Amino acid sequence: MKRAALLASVGAADIQFPFILPNRHKGLPPSDQVNLGLIGCNNRGFHVLLNHLKVEGVNCVALCDCDAKVLKKRSRDLVMAGYAQPVLYEDFRHLLEQKDIDAVIIGTPDHWHCLPTVFACELGKDVYVEKPMANSIEECNVMVKAARKYARVVQVGQQQRSSEVWNQVMQYLASGKLGQIQKTNVWGNFNYGLGPKRQSDSQVPEGVNYDLFLGPASKRPFNDARYHGSWRFFWDYGGGLVTDWGVHLLDMALWAKNIQIPASSVLAAGTQIESAERMRETFDTMTATFNYPGYMVHWENNAGKQIGPFGRHYGVAFVGENGTLVADRSKWEVLPEWDEQKKATKIAPVPATQGANGHVKHPENFIHCVKSREEPVCPVEVGRAVAINAHMANIAVRSGQGFLIWDDQKNRFSNSRMASKLIKPNYRKPWIFPKV
Ligand SMILES: NC(=O)c1ccc[n+]([C@@H]2O[C@H](COP(=O)([O-])OP(=O)(O)OC[C@H]3O[C@@H](n4cnc5c(N)ncnc54)[C@H](O)[C@@H]3O)[C@@H](O)[C@H]2O)c1
Repeated sequence: MKRAALLASVGAADIQFPFILPNRHKGLPPSDQVNLGLIGCNNRGFHVLLNHLKVEGVNCVALCDCDAKVLKKRSRDLVMAGYAQPVLYEDFRHLLEQKDIDAVIIGTPDHWHCLPTVFACELGKDVYVEKPMANSIEECNVMVKAARKYARVVQVGQQQRSSEVWNQVMQYLASGKLGQIQKTNVWGNFNYGLGPKRQSDSQVPEGVNYDLFLGPASKRPFNDARYHGSWRFFWDYGGGLVTDWGVHLLDMALWAKNIQIPASSVLAAGTQIESAERMRETFDTMTATFNYPGYMVHWENNAGKQIGPFGRHYGVAFVGENGTLVADRSKWEVLPEWDEQKKATKIAPVPATQGANGHVKHPENFIHCVKSREEPVCPVEVGRAVAINAHMANIAVRSGQGFLIWDDQKNRFSNSRMASKLIKPNYRKPWIFPKV
């Protein structure tokens, strides 16, 4: 798109800084290059972008953030790192109109994953969307439909699928040595799960388009505790530890059995133990059991704690017939069961084995798929299944129901109308829940 046409299409307010159209990678044919736009630049989105830029032929041609300070800083960071100045936008809809963008990275808070993904798919752009795939069950559903209807490559940011450690774990499990896995225990104890300190509402900071930050979520006064990073602890924007770290770890429990659908039921309990000084809606203390035919997955989080089972504050334990495989992001090991008759362990122990994480490989896989049109390692169905599980656990507690039976065909909880009301968010006007 020519610069004049671009300016005309986006309106003056979006282009806040002078820009030049980016240099392309010299010597590489355009067909070997991928132009990216980033929506939501503060933290994760920007780091994911930097990892994409390590892949040969990848250019960042646009950045978007509804916080001008963040946008300016990240633009400067890119230029300082030697990259060409991208086009800057406040409103992601205008970024999506930029014709030379092949794919977008979505690094916004969870309540802002669905609409940009659906719009991007409609406009023929591929998407790397951060986890959890969305902030509600119905948003996950519509994102799957959009990706499939418009035949886009959509990679969900569950980068453990690309990590060396977890791939080694899956290979070991596939070897059958552990025997049948009857249950997988998953836990995440994190200090940050306590959420932000209580504070008063305040003026919207200069340069922040707060209405755009809220988007389809309800209107409420600005409060820094609900802003950058800590939005995670408020239902309108996130789901607490179970949707934050939980989806990464629960995903491993599903991957082990090649499951790509939500659980048939969930039994969950959650509460607020530490709330006097904290401002938070999500649960600091929670357990949830997800039931699949012949398989159970258990989750627990204890916010404010930094120790947990097997000496790990977070992790996954696959409980098999012949032993338990315990893993976290940096290492895995096998603790064998004892065979009383043979007076020996049922299988050989595997000592703690380390491996690289997936932060670089996951973007590499996305770019490979953008070019080859292959399926990415974390497709929408995988993102949907685990995000829905996490939302089901929260809904079970929030609805007061505790035990919920999920009907994936009819897209409802068959034993609770009240819980079913939490499947789809009410979008605040002028935003409209997307139809695909
Ligand atoms: N895969 C991982 O390991 C991992 C790690 C951290 C975060 N995340 C995910 O990444 C996402 C972002 O998390 P974060 O910690 O970077 O949050 P953050 O609050 O630090 O950054 C979000 C950015 O999005 C911007 N934003 C909000 N609404 C916007 C809109 N409508 N248009 C454009 N920009 C908008 C905010 O201004 C902010 O700059 C979340 O979904 C989170 O769950 C994933």
